[in-house]
This record gives sequence, C-alpha cells and structure tokens, in this order.
Amino acid sequence: MLEEKRKKALEGGGEERIKKQHEKGKLTARERIEKLLDEGTFVEIGTFAESRATDFGMEKKRFPGDGVVTGYGTINGRLVFVYAQDFTVLGGSLGEMQAQKITQVMDLALKNGAPIIGLNDSGGARIQEGVDSLKGYGEIFFRNTISSGVIPQIAVIMGPSAGGAVYSPAIMDFVIMVDKTAHMFITGPQVIKAVTGEEIDFEGLGGAMVHNSKSGNAHLIANDDEDALLLVRELLDYLPQNNMEDPPVVETDDPPDRMDYSLDDIIPEDPKKSYDVKDVIERIFDRNSFFEIHPYFAQNIVVGFARLHGKTVGVVANQPKVYAGVLDIDASDKAARFVRFCDSFNIPIITLEDVPGYMPGVAQEHGGIIRHGAKLLYAYSEATVPKITVIMRKAYGGAYIAMGSKHLRTDIVYAWPNAEIAVMGPEGAVNIVFRKEIAKAEDPEKRREELIKEYRDKFANPYFAASRLYVDDVIYPHETRPRLIQALNMLENKREERPMKKHGNIPL
Ligand code: HXC
Repeated sequence: MLEEKRKKALEGGGEERIKKQHEKGKLTARERIEKLLDEGTFVEIGTFAESRATDFGMEKKRFPGDGVVTGYGTINGRLVFVYAQDFTVLGGSLGEMQAQKITQVMDLALKNGAPIIGLNDSGGARIQEGVDSLKGYGEIFFRNTISSGVIPQIAVIMGPSAGGAVYSPAIMDFVIMVDKTAHMFITGPQVIKAVTGEEIDFEGLGGAMVHNSKSGNAHLIANDDEDALLLVRELLDYLPQNNMEDPPVVETDDPPDRMDYSLDDIIPEDPKKSYDVKDVIERIFDRNSFFEIHPYFAQNIVVGFARLHGKTVGVVANQPKVYAGVLDIDASDKAARFVRFCDSFNIPIITLEDVPGYMPGVAQEHGGIIRHGAKLLYAYSEATVPKITVIMRKAYGGAYIAMGSKHLRTDIVYAWPNAEIAVMGPEGAVNIVFRKEIAKAEDPEKRREELIKEYRDKFANPYFAASRLYVDDVIYPHETRPRLIQALNMLENKREERPMKKHGNIPL
C-alpha cells in the first residue's frame, strides 16, 4: 500500500505530461530539485498531500502532491529549503494544499534560519479552488514579507508565472529567469488585447530578457534550467544562512597585499572619456570573485557580490561607460535595493564612485527621480554594516552625497589623486557663477578656460574634501586592494546603533 501510494505521488501528472514538459526544454520538478541540491540530500515533506477541491469538474479527481514538491537538502553542505511547482499537475496551479505545502517549508526555513528557494512553474491561482487559492497566495506573501531580511529568499522562474504567482518572487530577494521558457505577467496577452487593444506575445510581454533589462523584476537570466540552478548554488555561496550569521569565508590564493599598477592609468586623463568600471572591479577584488546582480538593468550602475581576502562584500560602482555613470531612476532603485540586502545580511558595502550627478530631464523629473533618488540616500544612511567608499574620479553634487559619502556615515572614504569632488562640474559651475564676467571679457572663451582651470585647482581635487575630513586619505589606485582589506579588517567588529523604531518609511 505504502509503495503503491508513493509511486502514484512520485509520478506527478504522468508520462505523457512529463514528455511534454521535456519537449519544451524544461526539467520536471523532481529533476530540478535533484540538480539544485547536493547529490542525494533531498528529503521530501508532504509527499502524500492531496488536493481536496470538490467543485467545477474536480468532483472525483484527486491529485497526489497537489502540483508541488517540497522539502529540504543541502547546497555545498549547507541546509536549504525548497519547493518546486510541478507543471504536469494542473499546470502547477496553486490550490489550497499546494499553498499549505509551500508555507510549511517556508515556516521551517524561517524557524531554522536557512534560505528558501522557490522553483516556479505555474498557471497561477487554481481557478477551480476559488478563494481558497487566493488565501494560499496571501499566506505565501505574508511569509515572504516576514522572512525578508531574516533568511535569503531566491525565486527561479522556470515556466509561466502568471497572475498572483508573480508577487511571491517579487517580494523575494533575487529572481532568476530561464530564457525563452520563463514568462512573468499579471495579465496575459489575451486580456491585454481585450482591455487595451495592444498586441504582444508572451516573450515580448514578460520574457526573461524583458524583465532582466526593462522592468528590473528579474536579477539574472539563465540559458536553461540547469544553468539557472547552478546560478542559485553560486549565489548562495556568497550569502549567510540568515541575518544572525556571517557569509562563509572562502579560501583564496589571491594575496591580500597584491598591488595592481595597471589601475594607475585605467582612468583616462580626459574627464569626459569613459572606461569600463568592471575592469577596475576585476583588478581590486579576489580574482574571478565578482558575481554581478542585475547585469542587464540600469547598466549605468554596477552591483554585485565579490570577495576581499575570501570574505563576501557587496560592490556598488558607477559605470562611466553607460550614460557617464549618471544616477537615474532605475539606477537608484537598483543600488538602493542591493545596499539594503547587504545591510540585512551583514555584508560590507564597498562603493566605487565616479558619478557626474543625477540625470537631468523632464522624463526623469516626472517619473519621480526625487522619490527614487531618495531611496539611495535612505539605504546608505540606514546601513550599519561596514561601509567603505573609493572616489575614483567624479563625485558631484547630490550624487556625491548619495554614493556612500562620509555624511551618510560611511566609515572610511578614500580618494584617488585625480578625484574631483564638488557641487558640480567645472564647466557648469563657471557658467553659472561667472556668466556676467565671461560675457564682458575681451576674449570670453579664453576667460572661461582660465576660470575653469581656477575652479578645477580649487575644488575639483580630493584635497579640499580631505582638508575637511570628508576624505580619510588620498591613495594611489594601485594600493586600493590592500587598503580596502586593511580597512575591512579594522571594521570587523563594527557595531553601530540606530534609534529603536518599528520600521522606517523608505520613500517607495
Ligand atoms: C487551473 C490551470 C490553470 C489555472 C493552467 N491550468 N492554469 N488549471 N487553474 N490557473 C491547467 C490547464 O487547464 C491545463 O490542464 C494544464 O494546466 C496545462 O495548461 P495549458 O494551458 O495546456 O498549458 P500551456 O499551453 O503551456 O499554457 C500555460 C499557461 C496557460 C500560459 C499558464 O495555462 C494559462 O494562461 N493559464 C492561466 C494563467 C492565468 O491567467 N493565471 C491567473 C490566474 S488568476 P489540462 O487538464 O487541460 O491539461 C491569479 C490571481 C491571483 O493568479 C491573485 C493573487 C494576488
């Protein structure tokens, strides 16, 4: 009896539907779990759960497992909890018992301080179960919220994620989408056509690249199921199990005192010329340790995890190669969310700064650059983990304050010798302050150039800021790695209090 029951439960929607799943290039729920976890470590919970809907064509039907496989296992030896929706059973749709199975592992993950990983492949709320399935989603969203900042939560979208199914991933920390097979949307193409008349297919509406590059809903894109599951394993290696622990320290053969002299001329002398900040990141942090988050979204800022002498750090870096590294709405959102993740999980924040300011423009102003830009100020101010900033070149205006300035309680601020720290760039400043004088001059262009030089000498260097203690030291680019490691070691036991409160009110 037991074996018969178990066999029935393990076969999901049956051979024919499994074949269909494979034909779409998708693995089954169980195959996915096997690939995600360390070999042979999966322990299933709730194998015999059954749907109990009795209406709308479900009178005599029972679905063992109810379209989701749940349990726990290890990733690189560390405990994780997992659920994988089974599309072969009623399209992975979420009914009452499926929701209970999911919330049970979410509760266990929270109580045991271990990450939760959701492998999503579902048609959304199970239509036949009505409000019971909506209740199920509500219970999941509540737990996503309560677990936020306590345990890492990772969603992998490996098929449709429609309607209510999108909001659990949206509350989780990281969303990984599989190219071509994953689609996320609130309302699908048919409904959109009926309501707005717009015509679009699944891929154009909510495909993996759309959410990675345009909406920013997804943080990473994977080529296929296997690639996505490997990304989860890799990502978890940078993270602690919960907010009370530190991330694992990884052995490295990259010496802590390694200097990189190529950094000394990596930044072009001409301040208008750009460079790729990822070349800088590569040279400073442990070799090959940079794991970029959100690589296709708001590319004017780069964020991701890396290691310094084996310890995880969060990197936030302006990208001069894209829009001169300016801060706009999307860049502010992207960086603020990343900073808050790092702060929740005891991950020090290293900021590499080269920012000309906030993005000007009507679209940005009307889109709420004030509200979105404020998120970054808020996130850096709120963060109490060790914070170290390196001003590589430009640090202008409000963006100077936002990008981990001393004034938002950054612990150590270094500047490279060519750093320019001022209210605005020399050209703009001179045109405002000396407009009349330039207009009256015999040779206005010559006078403008003279004034720009004067301004640059006075303000556009790191020494004025250093004289006020806004910069702790001016360092050579080549010594950045050892200086960062030295500062991180000094900050190892940092404790910083904030006033007790229920929670702040970040501008959303
Ligand atoms: C019940 C569902 C279902 C659902 C799919 N199925 N979605 N059953 N409730 N929500 C069933 C199908 O009837 C079918 O059963 C099987 O799953 C496979 O579905 P197909 O349509 O054959 O597969 P495919 O062609 O690959 O299309 C997948 C799909 C499509 C794109 C996901 O099924 C679809 O559009 N489903 C509805 C998506 C949706 O609008 N969801 C929103 C629900 S409302 P049989 O037995 O025929 O094989 C919602 C609101 C919650 O979620 C709000 C909370 C805040």
